[in-house]
Amino acid sequence: MNNFVFQSPTLIRFGEGEIANLAQHIPPQAKVLLTYGGGSIFQNGVYDQVKAALVGHQVGEFGDIEPNPRYPTLMKAVELIRNEGYDYLLAVGGGSVLDGTKFIAAAVCFEGTDPWQILSQDAPVKAALPLASVLTLPATGSETNGAAVVTRGEDKLSFYSDLVKPQFAVLDPTTTYSLPPRQVANGIVDAFVHVMEQYLTTGGAPVQDRFAEGVMLTLIEEGPKALAQPTSYEARANLMWAATMALNGILGVGVPQDWSTHALGHELTARFGLDHGRTLAVVLPALLRVRKDAKGAKLLQFAERVFAITEGDNEARIEAGIAAMEAFFRSLEMGTRLRDYDLDETVVDGLVGALERKGMTALGEDGGVSLEVSRAVFNAAL
Ligand code: NZQ
Ligand code: ZN
Repeated sequence: MNNFVFQSPTLIRFGEGEIANLAQHIPPQAKVLLTYGGGSIFQNGVYDQVKAALVGHQVGEFGDIEPNPRYPTLMKAVELIRNEGYDYLLAVGGGSVLDGTKFIAAAVCFEGTDPWQILSQDAPVKAALPLASVLTLPATGSETNGAAVVTRGEDKLSFYSDLVKPQFAVLDPTTTYSLPPRQVANGIVDAFVHVMEQYLTTGGAPVQDRFAEGVMLTLIEEGPKALAQPTSYEARANLMWAATMALNGILGVGVPQDWSTHALGHELTARFGLDHGRTLAVVLPALLRVRKDAKGAKLLQFAERVFAITEGDNEARIEAGIAAMEAFFRSLEMGTRLRDYDLDETVVDGLVGALERKGMTALGEDGGVSLEVSRAVFNAAL
């Protein structure tokens, strides 16, 4: 196991009714900016609950943060904060609202010429406004981690800073009852792939491995229940907690991580607007088939421990594990091929060219995902 430093400072309030208790975690004198997306929080009652909880605070609002949050939108919030002097951000919504709010928090305090440099040039985040989250879509893990993904034009880029980890996260499973099935499925797959990107590297970390396998098995068992019974509190609660644990950071400590599926997936979202979770369901099975030699030992473990595949030679068991994962994604009404989204071989050159432009020429924990390998993955995903 590699050396590591791990701190998860986010206080979690989990369970029905917990939104009512959030104000005690925000300094009383804070001037709070409530950030949200396209309006789901008005329809499902979450906005009213948050406003009621914040009755003792000075509160302003910034809405219309779009899915896959865009830089120009977020910069409007930066301007509002500078003009009106907010000093605490409360993000209410899915990963896009949370990520967008993290960028806003860092951008307000950025001292260089253009905060986009945080994403495009890895400019260091030296300060950020304090922020917290009320999550309404279990998927990204953004509610307790320091990552954020922002889009500008056709560039969808991420940054990471401990300074934008939410101070607290409210996870009330009942806020997810209003999710459309498509978003629930997106979240199940996103969380599953987060686990895989931390798990499918070298071995030597059995605690992390078994935590990871536990989260994957939970997603396989509870995800379909959450889809079939939208108001099953137990299923929604287990899905929400699994998604948080999938990318809180604990699964990836001390082990190499492989975020190549996400990198390739971001290109599909940036160019064709596919939902984040859907891009991962397309890329991961193809990537594992192309990289099965490099990842053979771990794929065998995955097949046996997650899908109980013990028959056949190594080659057959590896393929059976990947096929079982793909079948799980498809059982959630999730396309796993580019053709499911009317994309064919004519898109591959553009996707590979975009990776090249961004210098993404040696992805994965071992740098093994070269442009040629990425091309092979997109072709295998047709
Ligand atoms: O905008 P509103 O009206 O709120 O509607 C949203 C949006 O249309 C809706 N929604 C959210 N909660 C709802 C709801 N509708 C009904 N009831 C509710 N309770 O769902 C739609 C999608 O929301 P979005 O926030 O975009 O989805 P998700 O949580 O999947 O976030 C995706 C974004 O997170 C990034 C992705 O790249 C993408 O930009 N990621 C962030 C990560 C991180 N910070 O660690 C890691 C992930 O790998 C991912 O890359
Ligand atoms: Zn993801």
